[in-house]
Amino acid sequence: MDAASLLLLLGAICVAHGHLSKVWKLSPRELIDYRAYRDVTVLHFRIPEQTFTASFNFTASEKLMSSQLFSGCDPRRVSLFLKYGSLPVINPDGAKFPDNFSISNRVSMYNAEFQSNNTPVILNVTSPDPGDWFAVAFLSYTDPNNDQILQQGLSPNCVAMMESSMSVLIAKDATVVIPGAEISGQIDANTQSDNFKFYVPSGTWMVRLNFSSDHCDTASCLRMSYAPRAIPDPGVSNGNCESSIACEKDFIPAVDSWYYVTVSASHNHSHSPIRFTLEVSFLAHNSTEEWTLKNTTTMLPHLKPQEISEDVALLIEDLQNFWSLVPLARQSFSAFFTFNYHSEQTEENKSFFSINVSAHELTMMQFEVNHISDIGGTLTFEMKLEEDSNLKNVTANLYNVSVVACLSYQARAVPLYPQDTCVNYTGDFSKTKIQVNSSSETNRIGSIHVPFPEPGLWFITLKSFCFNNDSLPTNCTPDQGTLNVSLIIESNMCTADNCGRFGDCYSYMSGGFIFSTCVCKHGYTGWGCSDDSKVTSMVELLTAALLLTISNMFFIPAIVMALRRKYYTEAFVYTCTMFFSTFYHACDAGEDIYSYCLMRLNVLQFCDFYSAILSLWVTLIAMSDLRSVLKSIAHVAGAIGIALGTEYNRTSLWVLVVPAMVGVAVMTQSWMWRCKSQRSCYPSQKYWKFYFPPGVLLVTVGLVCYSFLQTKQNYKYVHSAWHIIMALAIIFLLPSKQEERSARAKSDESVCLPPLTCTSPSWKDNKFLKFVCWWER
Ligand SMILES: *[C@@H]1O[C@H](CO)[C@@H](O)[C@H](O)[C@H]1NC(C)=O
Ligand SMILES: *[C@@H]1O[C@H](CO)[C@@H](O)[C@H](O)[C@H]1NC(C)=O
Ligand SMILES: *[C@@H]1O[C@H](CO)[C@@H](O)[C@H](O)[C@H]1NC(C)=O
Ligand SMILES: *[C@@H]1O[C@H](CO)[C@@H](O)[C@H](O)[C@H]1NC(C)=O
Ligand SMILES: *[C@@H]1O[C@H](CO)[C@@H](O)[C@H](O)[C@H]1NC(C)=O
Ligand SMILES: *[C@@H]1O[C@H](CO)[C@@H](O)[C@H](O)[C@H]1NC(C)=O
Ligand SMILES: *[C@@H]1O[C@H](CO)[C@@H](O)[C@H](O)[C@H]1NC(C)=O
Ligand SMILES: *[C@@H]1O[C@H](CO)[C@@H](O)[C@H](O)[C@H]1NC(C)=O
Ligand SMILES: *[C@@H]1O[C@H](CO)[C@@H](O)[C@H](O)[C@H]1NC(C)=O
Ligand SMILES: *[C@@H]1O[C@H](CO)[C@@H](O)[C@H](O)[C@H]1NC(C)=O
Ligand SMILES: *[C@@H]1O[C@H](CO)[C@@H](O)[C@H](O)[C@H]1NC(C)=O
Ligand SMILES: *[C@@H]1O[C@H](CO)[C@@H](O)[C@H](O)[C@H]1NC(C)=O
Repeated sequence: MDAASLLLLLGAICVAHGHLSKVWKLSPRELIDYRAYRDVTVLHFRIPEQTFTASFNFTASEKLMSSQLFSGCDPRRVSLFLKYGSLPVINPDGAKFPDNFSISNRVSMYNAEFQSNNTPVILNVTSPDPGDWFAVAFLSYTDPNNDQILQQGLSPNCVAMMESSMSVLIAKDATVVIPGAEISGQIDANTQSDNFKFYVPSGTWMVRLNFSSDHCDTASCLRMSYAPRAIPDPGVSNGNCESSIACEKDFIPAVDSWYYVTVSASHNHSHSPIRFTLEVSFLAHNSTEEWTLKNTTTMLPHLKPQEISEDVALLIEDLQNFWSLVPLARQSFSAFFTFNYHSEQTEENKSFFSINVSAHELTMMQFEVNHISDIGGTLTFEMKLEEDSNLKNVTANLYNVSVVACLSYQARAVPLYPQDTCVNYTGDFSKTKIQVNSSSETNRIGSIHVPFPEPGLWFITLKSFCFNNDSLPTNCTPDQGTLNVSLIIESNMCTADNCGRFGDCYSYMSGGFIFSTCVCKHGYTGWGCSDDSKVTSMVELLTAALLLTISNMFFIPAIVMALRRKYYTEAFVYTCTMFFSTFYHACDAGEDIYSYCLMRLNVLQFCDFYSAILSLWVTLIAMSDLRSVLKSIAHVAGAIGIALGTEYNRTSLWVLVVPAMVGVAVMTQSWMWRCKSQRSCYPSQKYWKFYFPPGVLLVTVGLVCYSFLQTKQNYKYVHSAWHIIMALAIIFLLPSKQEERSARAKSDESVCLPPLTCTSPSWKDNKFLKFVCWWER
């Protein structure tokens, strides 16, 4: 065990007394292959307050659904992503996210990859935010182009299921710290750690933690860690005080939430007790130029914790004087996840609103994203620097200006210039910066998109900066630094542009939760269907469409031959097969670009499958050379049976195999009777030698191609080959001149040979034998 994990373990033991207890269990859920985001299975958990560790247990297994032919299922790879607040935003296929998508500066995401082999996978999350946690799970992404197109029934029908549960370790109760009052305590052999908490009302600008301890030597030191809403993990939290006697931390807090402070022994604990003091103060600034901090602790009356929330409203009013807060109003629309926020003064029917941004004061806005009902779309923040007379005057005479906006989650951020970050205070809240400036037309517009935003308070802070012709920051005069900026704060289903030209937006429900996602067309991929790296080229699409349709022309020789040999029914069925196959592929192959749909695709598909199997059946019956009465019964029975099978499950291999096997059985039986009755080989030797073997070989090759070799990538070639092979096989297999044999059969009528002689008068009245003879002919 290395030092870090020892420390972690020590922390775990120190902070949290007790054992993991299972608090959440999800029944097995089915996982499917990932093709697009809609294929994810959503798992929802709720982590209780004051959880120190949440331990997730995921167990994936395979279940065999129909077990006649196969003994078991191979484990497959499973991917899982887990995160607080909203669904994880992922791209397992590596597709590009649309421009200006906020992906990296977000709440941290946990990831696990494992096999569906019934082995539990444990994912530990230390110091988790309490509330809703969402996991998405699916069978790991593989390139669909290499997927085999397996006919149903040829592979085991396996279903991957995932069971999950969550156990938590709840930390011992924390002592409430009243801001402004010093609290003291000590760490000794009995008290390995101490937890405190204080409430940060929404108007708080800054928090100062003043921590000091008695003494600190190499053997024993105290460590102070803090975190919003969750018990901090002494091992990883940022901004801790460690190994120091006095330590002061100023930070911009997550507002409207409890902060937890943990004091623990940082190294091996010696037995001599160490005393410490802790003080919390709230600070406000009154100017963005100088970071003068004002002690606002005095404004907060000494409250009992349960009274705090009642007085918060009163407090906010006082604190809000330190910056200008633009009040926002929410407007919701009937579509899921569709709402916007605008200023109260906004004119009706305008999607944007205007505000004044100054260089001398922070302009601030805050808005709420609701739990569950708001998190399944994309939040968009757009900013435009209006080129009004003031701006023109300023840029023409003095300097160029820039407006920096920070969009942040939970805690306010401060725009900086020309740095890249929004604020350099530590903390792992999502924050993203956009900047617009007056230097060119395109630079005056900026946007940022947040897919699946986390629920809670979001903040927008704006400030303008002036810079001279060398791009160096310069001071602006007060009235000219005031700029008119138009803003849009809105949420839409899927993406702001509704999935663009190459996708459609849909809402899906999984595990009781609704989310919206794009379904892309024409081989486009990605969150907004904007990644064209896998697009099938026009040439390829055209080739596929042409190959798959034109290959059906090979049925023409078969039809002509059938007509010449007077197989009129068969010729008709082959014509139907050619017709429907051509139009089915014409509708299916070109992906909307080179496609022509005579009827609904589903109707064409039914007709294609139906007529193809019927062709097989009538060919086998023709080869059987049955009496005409039997033949028409066989035709009608086949037509009805195949219609039933095709409608029942057209992609199942059995729909093809059952008629084929029955047909072969009828044919074999018929041939054997004929052999016996003619006392010579039936069909003729010529047929056996020259037509039957190549025909059967072709059929075999065709079936192997159809059943085992098709992948999405080579479909156009292999399936076209299947059309051609089948059409050629008919030419070989269809017996010659039906007429001749019918004539011959007539002349055979009297020759019902041993063991049964029907013409023998003594048998004339035996109904059974009459039937047998009738059949025999
Ligand atoms: C995880 O869950 C599986 C199945 O419910 C169970 O058999 C296993 O004991 C659990 N493991 C842990 C560490 O809780
Ligand atoms: C997860 O945490 C529990 C309790 O702290 C611990 O027993 C277990 O070993 C941890 N598992 C992993 C994989 O870290
Ligand atoms: C922090 O606390 C120590 C000890 O109580 C005190 O000496 C120091 O002045 C405090 N610092 C501030 C800024 O209040
Ligand atoms: C902690 O104690 C162990 C033995 O109890 C010792 O080996 C180790 O050096 C100590 N670590 C520190 C940082 O004092
Ligand atoms: C801001 O600070 C200055 C100097 O510290 C003070 O004179 C002024 O009154 C403060 N403004 C507000 C709004 O508190
Ligand atoms: C803030 O004011 C309170 C009450 O006057 C005082 O006790 C505390 O030390 C002050 N804190 C700071 C950081 O000035
Ligand atoms: C806003 O739109 C509605 C309907 O589209 C229209 O009736 C109304 O007149 C519009 N109001 C304004 C101020 O344009
Ligand atoms: C912005 O400032 C201009 C002039 O300073 C004023 O006329 C206008 O009403 C202000 N707009 C807003 C939205 O406050
Ligand atoms: C333009 O700027 C100049 C210099 O600051 C000022 O005198 C003038 O009034 C401004 N004009 C307008 C229309 O704001
Ligand atoms: C944060 O910003 C301040 C002032 O801009 C600077 O003095 C300080 O070094 C910065 N800290 C970090 C860690 O970048
Ligand atoms: C300032 O803006 C003007 C156009 O308004 C542009 O030509 C110039 O390059 C800009 N200066 C800088 C430093 O970007
Ligand atoms: C992305 O942002 C940049 C500048 O912030 C802007 O020029 C561009 O138009 C934006 N792209 C989209 C698709 O919004």
